[in-house]
Formats: sequence, structure tokens, C-alpha cells
Amino acid sequence: MRFSSLTDRVKGGAADVWDTHTVATEARREGKDVIILSVGDPDFTTPEPIIEVAVRSLREGNTHYTPAAGITSLRESIARRHQRLTGARINKNNVAVTSGAQNALFGASMCICEAGDEVIVLQPMYVTYEATIRAPGATLVPVVLAAEDGFCLDAGRLKAAITPNTRAIFYASPSNPTGMILSAGDLKIIAGLAIEHDLWVVADEVYSEIVFESQFYHIAALPGMGERTISIGSMSKSYAMTGWRTGWMVAPESMIANIARLSLCMLYGLPGFVQEAAAHALDNEDAAVAEMRDIYRRRRDLLLEKLGAIAELNVFKPDAGMFLMVDVCGTGLQSSEFVRQLYADTGVSVLDATAFGASTEGFVRISYATGEDKLDEGCRRIAKFIDSLRPISQAV
Ligand SMILES: Cc1ncc(COP(=O)(O)O)c(C=O)c1O
Repeated sequence: MRFSSLTDRVKGGAADVWDTHTVATEARREGKDVIILSVGDPDFTTPEPIIEVAVRSLREGNTHYTPAAGITSLRESIARRHQRLTGARINKNNVAVTSGAQNALFGASMCICEAGDEVIVLQPMYVTYEATIRAPGATLVPVVLAAEDGFCLDAGRLKAAITPNTRAIFYASPSNPTGMILSAGDLKIIAGLAIEHDLWVVADEVYSEIVFESQFYHIAALPGMGERTISIGSMSKSYAMTGWRTGWMVAPESMIANIARLSLCMLYGLPGFVQEAAAHALDNEDAAVAEMRDIYRRRRDLLLEKLGAIAELNVFKPDAGMFLMVDVCGTGLQSSEFVRQLYADTGVSVLDATAFGASTEGFVRISYATGEDKLDEGCRRIAKFIDSLRPISQAV
């Protein structure tokens, strides 16, 4: 039987870079001694009070259909939070609840892009963006944030990428994989160009609560941006709720009306007990988020110290999130070879960062969404592996 051309367009996403991760996950299931540092699924269980609200809600009979754009209490919680963080005067009609940030990204792409449109994406970019942007037939135009520039934005490169066909700029800040945050100056440049060329901005902010020393900025807070920004958030990372599949978009009311119609035919609403638990979390569980953030910071520092001591590695310090980029060129291996051999020799699985675009050849992404003991042991094995690559005369 024949399939639509959409099914080809959603094939992107560097599927083979997940091979080692897939093998490692299977090995762990079989009880083998592996350390998985290749995925961004927090090791924490969702904080207990959030689980309690969901269970109570279920027991009270919250087992029915819900509105396509989300239940009112959750939309209001998200609106209050967005208003507090950005100063933007919005209400629940500017909010749609989605099945994770991924669903919001896909919905945004389907509602604002079509064949012939070009969409600028800051690269390195999160793995699903390619298929998400190509799904409606748009062309992805990468703007590279080069490793030699510390993965920072080059305004000239961004300006040069804009053409009469450009429809939108997509970015994730804090970034997955680099953990880098766009500065206030970067956002002003993006906003200025978006206003000048009448573009949408899709701001993926799923890591915005896991920020360490730096300051995070919301582009929606800038003058003139409320009407053209789709701010995307999620419970997944900050509240350790990946499996609850709860995210959102904050956008102009017209966009919310469109995404609600799309959600109706694609999703038909999220479970009410899940949404009630999410609303409770947003309104009451800031302390749990802060606690997890402190733990992530400690883990990041542990990796910086241990991996930073290995001469062949160049470790990039992330401002935020749960990943760290490591330049492995000094080992003499390409990133794909490094990932394969490291796993084969030590059972440690990390991710080949070319998953996030060709500009990150030579890098691997290491996740610290796992406990300090495992991270410590992972670093020890990585150091031993790199030592084994050295000529005998240089071995330490
Ligand atoms: C940058 C970025 N955006 C979106 C997502 C998807 O998040 P969610 O679980 O909310 O769908 C992820 C997940 O890793 C991510 O890293």
C-alpha cells in the first residue's frame, strides 16, 4: 500500500546515532554492567505530592474526556507563571496544553509552516526538529552556533540566512545539547529580525528551570514579541515528569484557537488527572524543582572536574540543563567511533553529537540525568578507555 509523502519527510533525525544507546538499554534490561549517559530522562521519580494529586484525582473519578486546549485550572496556572516570568499580560486563552513540548513543537510547525517556507533553526539543534519542520513541507535552514565561538550566536550568520521565504525561527534556549543560554543581546537581535521580516519565533524553553549561574531570558518579554512568539514549556525536565507527557504553548489567541482545533483531531485532550497533577506542581512545587536543580549542578561540576582532568578531552561548561558537550578530537577518534569503542570496551554509553547537526562532528553529548556514583564510575571508565588509546610511551 502507498503512504503519503509526509511519512518520508518525518524520517529525519539521525536514527543511527541511537544504535549504541539502544544496545545499552537492552543490555541494562538484561542486568549487564552498563552505564547509560546517553539520554535526557531524569533519574528522579516525580515528586510524591504530584503523584498524590494524580492518584486522588483518579480515585475521585477524573476519568473522562477533557477540553482539547487543556483544563482551565492548568491553563490558568501556566498563564500566571508565564506572566510572572515575562511581564506579558496574558490569560488562559493564550495557553494550550499539549502532550509534552514535542507535541507543541509539532503543532506549531503544522500551524505556521507549509511547502515553500524556510524555517531557520539554531544548530546544534534538538534531534526531533528536522522531522518536525519538514512535516508540513517546509525547508530547514540551519544557522550554526560554532563550537569555536562557544556555541554562541553569530548575528551576521543569522541575518544572512533570512530570505523572502523565511517563515519562522526555531531555537531551544537553554539548548539541548550544549546547555547554552541565548543572551539578552542575542534575543534582541532575534526579536529585531523577526519584527523586521514579520517572522514567527518558536522558543523551546523546556530547560528554563534548570539554569545554574547564568540568567535565562524569555523572548516573549521583549516589546512587539507577544504577537509573534510561541513559547514552549514542559513538565518533563524540571519536574521529572517525562512519562506524564505534559507540555504547553503560550501564544497569541489566534494561534491557540488553531492548535486547539489541530489537537482535537490529533489528540482529543490529555488525561484530566495528569493535568490536575501538573497544575498542582506548577502552583506548589517550586522547592522540589530547586532541589533537583542543585543536584544537577553538583553532577555537572563533578563531570567538569573529572573529565576536565583528561588531557585529550575538551569539555564545554553548560549554563543549564542536563547535558555536557565534550570535544573528543584529541583522542584521534571521530565522535561515532569514540561512542562505539567506548561502549564496546567499557559499557559506558554516550551520544554522538552529530545527532544535533553536522557542525558538532568531533563532540559527544554526556547526560548527567543519572546519579553521582554512576557518573563517577562512568568518568573512571572513560579515563581508562582514553588511556588505552595512548601510545605505550605516553600511557599514564
Ligand atoms: C530541547 C527539547 N525540546 C523538547 C523536548 C521534548 O520534551 P517533552 O518531553 O516535553 O516532549 C526535549 C526532550 O528531550 C528537548 O530536549
